[in-house]
Amino acid sequence: MMLSDLRLPEDARIIAVGNEKGGAGKTTLSIHIILSLLYDGHKVCSVDIDSRQRSISHYLENRRRFMLNKNIRLPFPSHFIVNKSQLDSMEFSQRDEQQRFSKCLSAASKKGQFIVIDTPGNDTFLSRLAHSVAHTIVTPINDSFVDLDVLGRLDPSTFELEDSGVYGKMITKLQAHRRKLNQPKADWVVLRNRLSNLDANNKRQMAKAVEILSEHLGFRHGVGFSERVIYRELFLRGLSLLDLVDQETGIPTSMAHIAARRELQQFMQFLNLTGEPVHLGQPPLERHAAQAQPATA
Ligand SMILES: Nc1ncnc2c1ncn2[C@@H]1O[C@H](COP(=O)(O)OP(=O)(O)OP(=O)(O)O)[C@@H](O)[C@H]1O
Ligand SMILES: [Mg+2]
Repeated sequence: MMLSDLRLPEDARIIAVGNEKGGAGKTTLSIHIILSLLYDGHKVCSVDIDSRQRSISHYLENRRRFMLNKNIRLPFPSHFIVNKSQLDSMEFSQRDEQQRFSKCLSAASKKGQFIVIDTPGNDTFLSRLAHSVAHTIVTPINDSFVDLDVLGRLDPSTFELEDSGVYGKMITKLQAHRRKLNQPKADWVVLRNRLSNLDANNKRQMAKAVEILSEHLGFRHGVGFSERVIYRELFLRGLSLLDLVDQETGIPTSMAHIAARRELQQFMQFLNLTGEPVHLGQPPLERHAAQAQPATA
């Protein structure tokens, strides 16, 4: 099978949640995007291509267990896992991964209008495929200059862009390739995560740096998510902030939860996933996906 054989669903909207920096909040954000869409009445598929960690799959297993224990029904996506190929040769393993990824998209598009793909925190062939077919790319970053480095490097005194970071370069190439094929760009949205209330100076500097990078790299960025303990507590029960209002879960809500939910709602509005869908036709980035060889494929 050639890369050009990758069939894209016509009607589903694909959202890749990605960042080559580990621990930026991709899985947490994926779950919250999925459940926001489900609570809004949409049909949603989740796709796990992080076959090493399987965090989103475990998150959803915990959710299923919670529902069984409490004997309640909560919104739940149709879930898919695409495993890393076990084949030795790079050529065969990429072909194998592409084939399985393509099958997954085609099955998912029959079940949902939205396909949310949680990607790993490193550069893999599957992750490149996911980015290359996404209508929307969502990138959470921890509010730290260390995390910003994968997007771009700024001169510390003038804040001028010195160079794009690895992830920034990957997306820039991807967008350029789409332009060449006369296809719409992916809507790239960067979200500052774990904003601290204590470090106002870092927060201001980060805001300025993200603004500058957004002009260079062409992403949108809106209000971020604050640092909140609740995100870490939700995983074991497979819950999201949105379930906390659900009377059936019996989880009491606090003012902090309400504020967190407001941030999420603002973010979902900003993301605007239910706006005009973008039809990409055939994969824009097959060559791009093949170009840089992923480290672990
Ligand atoms: N806004 C937040 N406030 C507090 N903790 C958070 C927040 N967002 C995420 N976390 C916590 O940060 C850790 C990393 O989050 P998560 O697993 O979602 O990141 P990831 O990008 O998917 O990581 P990986 O690259 O390993 O897949 C988790 O413990 C999560 O609970
Ligand atoms: Mg993850």
